[in-house]
Amino acid sequence: CGIVGIVGNQPVSERLVDALKRLEYRGYDSAGVATIHAGALERRRAEGKLVNLESRLREEPLAGTIGIAHTRWATHGAPTERNAHPHFTDGVAVVHNGIIENFSELKDELIASGAKFETQTDTEVVAHLLAKFRRDGLGRREAMHAMLKRVTGAYALAVLFQDDPSTIMAARNGPPLAIGHGKGEMFLGSDAIALSPFTNEITYLVDGDWAVIGANGAHIFDLAGNAVDRPRQISMAAAYMIDKGNHRHFMEKEIYEQPEVISHALGHYIDFAENRVKAPTDAIDFAGVPSLAISACGTAYLAGLVGKYWFERYARLPVEIDVASEFRYREIPLSPQSAALFISQSGETADTLASLRYCKDHGLKIGAVVNTRESTIARESDAVFPILAGPEIGVASTKAFTCQLAVLAALSIGAGRARGTVSADEEQALVRHLTEMPRIMGQVLNGIQPKIEMLSRELSKCRDVLYLGRGTSFPLAMEGALKLKEISYIHAEGYAAGELKHGPIALIDENMPVIVIAPHDRFYEKTVSNMQEVAARGGRIILITDEKGAAASKLETMATIVLPNVDEIIAPMIFSLPIQLLAYHTAVFMGTDVDQPRNLAKSVTVE
Ligand code: G6P
Repeated sequence: CGIVGIVGNQPVSERLVDALKRLEYRGYDSAGVATIHAGALERRRAEGKLVNLESRLREEPLAGTIGIAHTRWATHGAPTERNAHPHFTDGVAVVHNGIIENFSELKDELIASGAKFETQTDTEVVAHLLAKFRRDGLGRREAMHAMLKRVTGAYALAVLFQDDPSTIMAARNGPPLAIGHGKGEMFLGSDAIALSPFTNEITYLVDGDWAVIGANGAHIFDLAGNAVDRPRQISMAAAYMIDKGNHRHFMEKEIYEQPEVISHALGHYIDFAENRVKAPTDAIDFAGVPSLAISACGTAYLAGLVGKYWFERYARLPVEIDVASEFRYREIPLSPQSAALFISQSGETADTLASLRYCKDHGLKIGAVVNTRESTIARESDAVFPILAGPEIGVASTKAFTCQLAVLAALSIGAGRARGTVSADEEQALVRHLTEMPRIMGQVLNGIQPKIEMLSRELSKCRDVLYLGRGTSFPLAMEGALKLKEISYIHAEGYAAGELKHGPIALIDENMPVIVIAPHDRFYEKTVSNMQEVAARGGRIILITDEKGAAASKLETMATIVLPNVDEIIAPMIFSLPIQLLAYHTAVFMGTDVDQPRNLAKSVTVE
């Protein structure tokens, strides 16, 4: 899931592993590093976390001033040391992110011509193809070019040839890859965060590019083999401190950062002097579009679902929304007059990008709600709406979610103004509520921790948990369940409160807590009747509500978490805080790897 390379003038193996650590947040289950030293390729690999690779390297250090390294998130083949990258074949070393889709056909062909495969990975065909082309008499660049013409699928690749200890070759089609420019040294990495200790001068490869990287510079080519020029940019990644501060985990730090990052996001979209939403773009004509399509994955999708309620309510704009892996294949009839929004923290998620391209092909105007402005999704969009959350390292998304919500809230109000469905007075009132958000978030984060910790101890003993909500609290219920299962591995489901009686009510007993998200809004009474259905069957209720809701509730609950009374427009962001903290503290009690939960990746660049 992460790639690093250095063409250096000093030893590289330690620096490569340090750079891999900066990519740990992406999630992985094995790791490896290869260098060329004294004319020979050498490698060390290990299952599991980077500490294992580090102890392998302590036992058997790797010399060499050129090297490539990798953290792997298994797709084809189990996460064993044997399947870990780099893969070696006849003087060729390869690391790869993505999936080579035609690997099985290539593998058959290579086996027929005598190749012996050592792993179950799709990546090994790349090493074998390169080795074969070299044996056929092609030079290194020609072999690289010939290999790229044969493979299909998604890849970011870094390659070392044993007979050239001064060059790394790289290629990109899908997963991101960036070249870093140093002084007498050059670098390669999956993102600017990995390269930030070395350099902030970055050149991003675009899809179809491949590069020959030496100590003093890089040559970049397209798939046809023509030299291409890609701009050098100054990356912002180095400006961010990537450490946990006083927190035990990145996730905790990111939860507590929310008041601050939300105010950055709001500052970008709101004119505080006038209490109005700034017109964020001319590229999308929100006044004229007949409908809006929204697509995303995971937590970003759930933010989109809240966005749907807002765009429909405030802008009277019909919204078609689906998870990107369905959206891209559903053959949705879309009007070319419409616009589409893609929400992605990383800006690199493969299914979201494919949905974007589908909409682009159908002539829609494209907007990207992203955290990474240098990402592929941002680059391919007509309008970019940054969420300004700063790097999010914890795999489970927290601050990106609430910043996505803040941006979608502002956009929907802006769209409502443009469409004449939100009056100037209404806009000012809504904006005033948004402006209060950072302060209220701070107040909530300071106040609820002890109660949440107590409750989390109870939750950590459960096997299943049900989350219920109505209106915008319904996507929030799903987000609560997603957070809990992602990091504590407790089975959890989020349901629309009104659907309870159509199925999940059969599961209710004293062993399954039901977390009800119910601000005192226009749905409150209805949600209370759903709680009664739970109580009548001996279910234990954890009610997350506000002061008015707590005062109105006559039900006996296992616990009630009381938040301040807030307007409906900011309730989803404020109510996110207890659900994030509940998942976090439950995971801490369970002793799981909170920041890098098993099997999950931060940025999923495969389908
Ligand atoms: C992965 C992450 C989730 C994230 C989803 C979408 O599954 O583990 O936290 O919500 O991808 O990622 P994106 O970068 O597109 O927001």
